[in-house]
Amino acid sequence: MESFSELIKARRSMRKFTEEELTQEQVVTLMKAALMAPTSKRSNAWQFIVVDEKDKLKELSYCKEQASQFIADAALAVVVVADPLASDVWIEDASIASIYLQLQAEDMGLGSCWVQVRERFTASGMPSGEYVHEMLDIPLQLQVLSVIAIGHKGMERKPFNEDNLQWEKIHINKYGGK
Ligand SMILES: Cc1cc2nc3c(=O)[nH]c(=O)nc-3n(C[C@H](O)[C@H](O)[C@H](O)COP(=O)(O)O)c2cc1C
Repeated sequence: MESFSELIKARRSMRKFTEEELTQEQVVTLMKAALMAPTSKRSNAWQFIVVDEKDKLKELSYCKEQASQFIADAALAVVVVADPLASDVWIEDASIASIYLQLQAEDMGLGSCWVQVRERFTASGMPSGEYVHEMLDIPLQLQVLSVIAIGHKGMERKPFNEDNLQWEKIHINKYGGK
């Protein structure tokens, strides 16, 4: 990608993937980005579970009642977990790492989508975090924030249209200030 501005314009959620796998080098580049994400007080309270086995990806795709099924077709799913006892702002830290993964994926021409796990439920009403914990043997003290599905793009998505930016959400010096 030529510039950061172009990168953030091009990044759109991708929920359709080709069958092409990722190279080991690509996976390493993605995980390097996650490990370079900033955290409060450099607590690095997060950990990342990299899932690339087809049957596991399929099982993971049932972590929510809806909007998670495409995980089954992704080349990779990165489960972002963090320890709330190691950081009182683990949600922020894990969220920043999640978006770093998405931006790194876009920079490599890959597609990605954030799948929310925290505060979500499976079709049978089980908390999504509990489902993912059981499935991947995650220690109890870690909370699951998100699953970032990544793979080669299976469709085109239009970049952001700058004409649609909500400039009214920007306030100068005070709320509603002009
Ligand atoms: C915190 C968060 C949670 C999200 N959860 C999901 C999800 O569970 N499933 C999904 O398909 N997309 C999810 N998304 C993607 C959003 O739906 C998407 O970013 C938004 O609609 C804007 O579209 P865009 O990413 O293409 O610009 C999530 C995004 C964020 C930031």
